[in-house]
Amino acid sequence: MERTLILLKPDAVQRRLIGRVIGRFECKGLKVIGMRLMQISDELAATHYEAHQGKPFYAGLVQFMTSGPVVAMALEGNKAINVCRKLMGATFGSDADAGTIRGDFGISDGFNLVHGSDSPEAAQRELELFFDASDLHSYDLIDDKWNATE
Ligand code: RTP
Ligand code: MG
Repeated sequence: MERTLILLKPDAVQRRLIGRVIGRFECKGLKVIGMRLMQISDELAATHYEAHQGKPFYAGLVQFMTSGPVVAMALEGNKAINVCRKLMGATFGSDADAGTIRGDFGISDGFNLVHGSDSPEAAQRELELFFDASDLHSYDLIDDKWNATE
C-alpha cells in the first residue's frame, strides 16, 4: 500500500467542488487516512514547491496556493501515487482528458484544482510537511478486501 498527499487547491474550495473531487478519489477505492482544511503560509508554499523556484510561473503559483484555504488529504491505496495522478489528469485543464478531475471540472491552465505527489520520495516529504504522524489514521474499511493488491 502506498500513501500520497493530495491538495484540493484554493479554486476547488472557492468553486464548492470539495465534495465532488473527494468523491472521485473515494470511488476509485482510495482510503482517506488524513484530512484538514488549512491556509498555506508563504513559507509552506515555498517549501512544498521548492522544485519550481526560479521558474516563470513560480511567483504566481505561490500567490495562488496561498490565496485561500485548501483541503490537504493523505490517501492510501494500491499504487496510490500513480493512481491519483491518473485521476487528476494532465497539469493544464485545457489539456487534461475528459474523465479526469482536471479534465472535467476546469479549463484554466494554472488554476487546476488539485495537487498530487509525483513520486514515493515526494509523497513522503510532502506528507511530513502537511501532517503530523499522529494525524494519520490506520483503520479497516468493510471493502478493504476488494481493494487489496490481489
Ligand atoms: P502539482 O504539482 O500541483 O500536482 O501539478 P503538476 O505536478 O501536474 O505540475 P507541476 O509541473 O508540478 O506544476 C506545479 C503547478 O504549477 C502551475 N503551473 N503553471 N503557467 C505554467 O506554465 C505553469 N506550469 C505549472 C500549475 O498549477 C501546476 O499544477
Ligand atoms: Mg508537481
